[in-house]
Amino acid sequence: MKERIAFYAKRIKEGRLKEMWRQTVWIYGYGKKHWLAMIIYTLMGLVGTVVSLGVSFASRDLVNIITGYQAGKLVQTFSIMIGLGIANSILSQITSYVSALVGMRVDAEIKADIFEKILVTDWESLTNYHTGDLLTRWNTDASSISNGILNYVPNAIIYLFRFISAFAVVIVNDASFAIFAFLGMPVSLILSKTLMRRMVNNNQRSAAMGAKMSGFNQEAFSNVQTIKAFDLIRLYVQRLKQLQKEYITMKLDFQKMSIWTSLLMTTVGLLVSYAAYGWGIYRVWSGAIDYGTMTMFLGLSGTLTGTLHNLTSLVPGAIALTTSAGRLMDIVEMPREDDGKREEVKAFLEENRDRGIGLTIDHLTYAYKTGTQVFENATMEARPHEIVGLVGPSGEGKTTMMRLLLSLVPPQGGEAYFWAGENKEKRGFDLSPATRQLFSYVPQGNTMFSGTIAQNMRNVKEDASDEEIIAALKQACAWSFVEKLPEGIYSVLHERGGGLSEGQAQRLAIARALLRDTPILLLDEATSALDVATERQVLRNIMGGERPKTCIVTTHRPTALSMCKRVYAIRNKQCALLNAEEIKDMIDNF
Ligand SMILES: Nc1ncnc2c1ncn2[C@@H]1O[C@H](COP(=O)(O)OP(=O)(O)OP(=O)(O)O)[C@@H](O)[C@H]1O
Ligand SMILES: [Mg+2]
Repeated sequence: MKERIAFYAKRIKEGRLKEMWRQTVWIYGYGKKHWLAMIIYTLMGLVGTVVSLGVSFASRDLVNIITGYQAGKLVQTFSIMIGLGIANSILSQITSYVSALVGMRVDAEIKADIFEKILVTDWESLTNYHTGDLLTRWNTDASSISNGILNYVPNAIIYLFRFISAFAVVIVNDASFAIFAFLGMPVSLILSKTLMRRMVNNNQRSAAMGAKMSGFNQEAFSNVQTIKAFDLIRLYVQRLKQLQKEYITMKLDFQKMSIWTSLLMTTVGLLVSYAAYGWGIYRVWSGAIDYGTMTMFLGLSGTLTGTLHNLTSLVPGAIALTTSAGRLMDIVEMPREDDGKREEVKAFLEENRDRGIGLTIDHLTYAYKTGTQVFENATMEARPHEIVGLVGPSGEGKTTMMRLLLSLVPPQGGEAYFWAGENKEKRGFDLSPATRQLFSYVPQGNTMFSGTIAQNMRNVKEDASDEEIIAALKQACAWSFVEKLPEGIYSVLHERGGGLSEGQAQRLAIARALLRDTPILLLDEATSALDVATERQVLRNIMGGERPKTCIVTTHRPTALSMCKRVYAIRNKQCALLNAEEIKDMIDNF
């Protein structure tokens, strides 16, 4: 026996219950800011209960007056009953308003909070999740929590109070009726237990399925061009139908279960109320109670069975809620970025803008979490006024080096730090998310957002004037085509910069980077779609600005290479500095 208790205690401590407790605490972290609304909601639920009991009493009196058991003012009692009934329905409307209010506020709060947390989550951990999955969690799970947040404590209190008060009225009036309160209980309990198991299962499956479907749709809609080009329309429609079929089968499975459950519950409810009815008639016949009390009891037996069922179904509801919380916690508990030194780095940046800022990578080692070792003791340097070239075959690690510089991924070994001035006069900070302020990055691919060109530019410099934007566009050799657009810089781009040619998008991305005006520029194949003359002009403009720039480019192209002060070849997980001859060879053999 003692062992069994210890066994259960251990299970409670370590198992699902502990997990549920942690999740509950997390949910209440959001709920507690709305404690006042919750208390109001609870109080109104309690008052509502008292008012409905009042209605029961009034209806008892009314029946007794009509049947002549009781002397009293018929009209008055009738008015009280109607009045209380109306008050009750007003109360229940207000209660549902408060509950909607709390629900919506908590919903907005959780979503805003999770949105931010997703964005500050360590990039590499985040890439393990499909965007469809993230979207489903952010949207559906957050909603299920906000919809159910009142279901935990407030509703438990209200239902418990409703049950106890109705039960007390029954006991006081005719204790023999109390049995009917519990008649439905065994069925309720058994049902809620099976329902609970199914529900957990169903929740998990339905969340996984939802994530799969939204991921599928999202990917299909953003790749319409590829789907058409490869003649995949039929295949994709087929796949969607397959997914829908799986979804429907799963949902129906659960639906059947809940149909059976409610059929059973209704039958039990009916049986209980008929039994109560029979017992009531007997009690009236034997003179133990009057007609009014019997009518009241019939109403109360419904309340008791219903409330008891509500109470037991709070458990599966809570489980659904905690499952959702668990899915959100998975995300928010991933490692976070720390940009603690933001202000210090900003000061360093302001102080040394005019001197230029360079960086040193010293024996850096990095492997992706998947195990791919990309760098081992890699060393390189980039100085102000210099274009530094990174070359290497595809898949060697050029983009990974950019990610390391941007602290999107953390190195496992070695050092990386900044310094100011051409001759490294002043040592600055180590690489960290806070040092992203020092960089402007032009990644591979089209990375413009939807909206006007001007909005895209102002994303990186909120108060940029039209003139500043045009100047940056000119520097990036983008003005020549933007000028010809009917709306100029106010022309609207589609999603992901749609509506532009690759080279145009690249030039806009470069203009955006230039407008940000940071000491270090990272160009990842950023000039690959430009013609040779434009590429040369862009690079010249970048370096010819007022302030010294440090520019790191990944490229295979002779034009860019011939402008580099220093070229590193990424090979054997290291950055090998090429001499003039090797660079010339590379240019000649292009
Ligand atoms: N997110 C990631 N997770 C795991 N491995 C990755 C990830 N991104 C890249 N890799 C792996 O790291 C290695 C270097 O990739 P990287 O993108 O840096 O190459 P690259 O030199 O930029 O190539 P390309 O010239 O084709 O752009 C490759 O083997 C690649 O498979
Ligand atoms: Mg790359």
